[in-house]
Amino acid sequence: MRHFVIVGVIIAILTPLVYFGIDATHVMPIEASAQAVFVDWQWNLDMAAIAFLFSLVMVPLVYALIVFRRRKGDLGDAEHGQESRTLEMTWTVIPLVLVTVFAYLGAYSLGKTRLVAPDALEVQVTAHQWDWAFTYPAGFTSNELHLPVNRQVVLKMQSLDVIHSFWVPEFRIKQDVVPGQTTDYRITPTRIGNYKVRCAELCGASHAYMIRPVIVSTQADYDSWVRQQTAAAAALLAQGGPQAGQALVAQNGCGACHSLDGSKLTGPTFRGLFGSTVSLSDGSTVTADDAYLTESIKDPNAKVVKGFPSGIMPQFNLTDAQVKSIVAYLETLK
Ligand code: CUA
Repeated sequence: MRHFVIVGVIIAILTPLVYFGIDATHVMPIEASAQAVFVDWQWNLDMAAIAFLFSLVMVPLVYALIVFRRRKGDLGDAEHGQESRTLEMTWTVIPLVLVTVFAYLGAYSLGKTRLVAPDALEVQVTAHQWDWAFTYPAGFTSNELHLPVNRQVVLKMQSLDVIHSFWVPEFRIKQDVVPGQTTDYRITPTRIGNYKVRCAELCGASHAYMIRPVIVSTQADYDSWVRQQTAAAAALLAQGGPQAGQALVAQNGCGACHSLDGSKLTGPTFRGLFGSTVSLSDGSTVTADDAYLTESIKDPNAKVVKGFPSGIMPQFNLTDAQVKSIVAYLETLK
């Protein structure tokens, strides 16, 4: 009995020490969304249970090793007990109840993080190797995610190539972006500040650099940024020509597959492309003029360049005027 009391007391002392020890490492970054509150609540409960279980296993183990070790000259057999149904029932029923309670709590907090606000701001997210693009309700696209504070946002996420994963650690929630489907990501930012979205799914050579700024600001600051971006996008597109084309090429992430310096990536380089003679996979050749480039942007698989895979390049959502601007930009790279 004395041993049980001693072990019990040590467990009672060690459990909070382990818990606060884990807490002191600050593994979690600051809490910046309404959803993060439930994730952190669940996390703290789990850590408390883990601290207790760790102590429950380690304390009797180490205690027994020291107190019941074989003494010098002791050649006798150890005491051995008979099977105990009470003990078996105890260590079956208690964990069963605990696991069930934690499963319920997990489902409860998952439900809380998925609550839908009817007035949520909707932003389209396009992920591709290796960048993020955000299209706002006003119609412009940016590589920065700006969000007003204390308003729920729903990101409608699509991938142009492989599986990526949208993750802002301070928001806690993480969601895969899967080619061929649109996945939702709901968050209510609660802290004004600058964060970063990173990709949490190994997606190729530059996966580690798939990072873009996330800026949470007041509604007024957000509105003024939207006005400014809308005006800038309209001015640039109205102007047309190579500069608009260059902006569109950057916005749509064309550089991920088409280099500007002549090097070969997934697709042919843009450098020196305009006016050159291109060998196609069917053995024929074509001159890279306005008509060829326009067709290749609108229908990437109509003519496939020899030595490059077909069916890789996505069909981008571009107007005729935008395609014309892009071709005008390519002309400047000849
Ligand atoms: Cu995209 Cu990793």
